[in-house]
Amino acid sequence: AETSNGAKIFEANCASCHIGGGNVLIAEKTLKKEALSKYLKNYDNDSIQAIIHQVHNGKNAMPAFKDKLSYEEILQVAAYVFQNAEQGW
Ligand code: HEM
Repeated sequence: AETSNGAKIFEANCASCHIGGGNVLIAEKTLKKEALSKYLKNYDNDSIQAIIHQVHNGKNAMPAFKDKLSYEEILQVAAYVFQNAEQGW
């Protein structure tokens, strides 16, 4: 099967800390649906936009990607994270 662009961007930029939708630095702050709903501001109102915001700006130990990824790439990786959160990784 063809690997989506979002998946490739995730593998190259996010998997080091978020392998399998987890979080190697702050164990509870995973990319699973329940954690996103609990910890990521505005996730329940506008999920993709909330993920885009976090990736664009970073937060605490997570670096900002605004100078590393284009807006289109951030949108693709956010959609990939959302889809996997819905599907349970
Ligand atoms: C949190 C996505 C790269 C470290 C998060 C959250 C999202 C996210 C959506 C919120 C999760 C939650 O609060 O439960 C991504 C994406 C990445 C990426 C899509 C790649 C583009 C990284 C990298 C690191 C990292 C490379 C480590 C160097 C963290 C940490 C948090 C976090 C420490 C918790 C921040 C806090 O609330 O203090 N990430 N991440 N992330 N991420 Fe990432």
